[in-house]
Amino acid sequence: MKQLDFTVRSNDKLNDQNHLLKVVPSDNEQLPEMLPGQFVQILVENAQHTFLRRPISINNIVPERNEIWLLVQSVGEGTQKLCEMAVGGRLNMLVPLGNSFTIPSNPGSYLLVGGGVGTAPLLFLGKKLHERGIACDFLLGGASEKNILQRSDFTAYGTLYCTTEDGSLGEKGYVTHHPVLQHKKYDFIFTCGPKPMMVAVARYAHERGIVCEASLENLMACGFGACLCCVEKTTRGNLCACTEGPVFDINELTWLD
Ligand SMILES: Cc1cc2nc3c(=O)[nH]c(=O)nc-3n(C[C@H](O)[C@H](O)[C@H](O)COP(=O)(O)OP(=O)(O)OC[C@H]3O[C@@H](n4cnc5c(N)ncnc54)[C@H](O)[C@@H]3O)c2cc1C
Ligand code: FES
Repeated sequence: MKQLDFTVRSNDKLNDQNHLLKVVPSDNEQLPEMLPGQFVQILVENAQHTFLRRPISINNIVPERNEIWLLVQSVGEGTQKLCEMAVGGRLNMLVPLGNSFTIPSNPGSYLLVGGGVGTAPLLFLGKKLHERGIACDFLLGGASEKNILQRSDFTAYGTLYCTTEDGSLGEKGYVTHHPVLQHKKYDFIFTCGPKPMMVAVARYAHERGIVCEASLENLMACGFGACLCCVEKTTRGNLCACTEGPVFDINELTWLD
């Protein structure tokens, strides 16, 4: 883990709540190795109540531009300030934190399922799978079309399936209602998003004996195992989601009990 200053290279508004920030180390330092599923902790300056850093997933790494992408959803003061960052603005970040999704070496069929801003780490994961010659399917869900973000980035790395609750894009309903889950057989499922969605995906995978990992977005304070505020109950005992996770094998979680 390193603490580095970053400069905002671009800040694109994707919809009324979500921004995509592309940041580079301010002193041109080479980025440390970062893996899909890992996250950064961002110090939010000029905010009254955000003395704790805010955890944000690594959405993509572009090594040739030494660039990190961060997909931020404005839900409170901290993320709102991040969405308002000007190009050229500075961000102090701890990079990278947490464990990562397991990228199996054996061939197989892969499904990456995301909802809301939980789609963020799945783009980087899909890119890594693509680099290894592994084709994967993405299944992304949201309330409506405007909530399914970065569609052209996803389709560069695999086949994209979508569900929306209002039916404005793809199938109407939740991700677990998508017909692809009935028609195709997957060996690995990786998921990130709202907990009810991940529980439903985990149940689907468990019933079919599919290897499944979920990335949790537990509330975090320190991000590196010092405060115990992110503890998750698992079959290995209470574990810090920030250091032992955020990615867990669903069989370690107690969701399906
Ligand atoms: C490992 C990890 C990766 C994450 N990746 C991303 C990401 O890529 N993009 C992104 O936009 N957000 C991500 N989040 C969530 C993000 O950290 C929170 O939304 C943010 O901390 C909220 O800060 P705030 O100051 O804006 O809002 P606050 O004022 O702190 O909270 C506003 C509202 O959001 C809720 N909230 C705060 N944190 C979370 C959380 N972790 N999960 C669910 N609800 C929360 C609060 O309960 C409150 O209702 C991630 C969280 C974790 C733990
Ligand atoms: S956030 Fe402090 S221990 Fe995990």
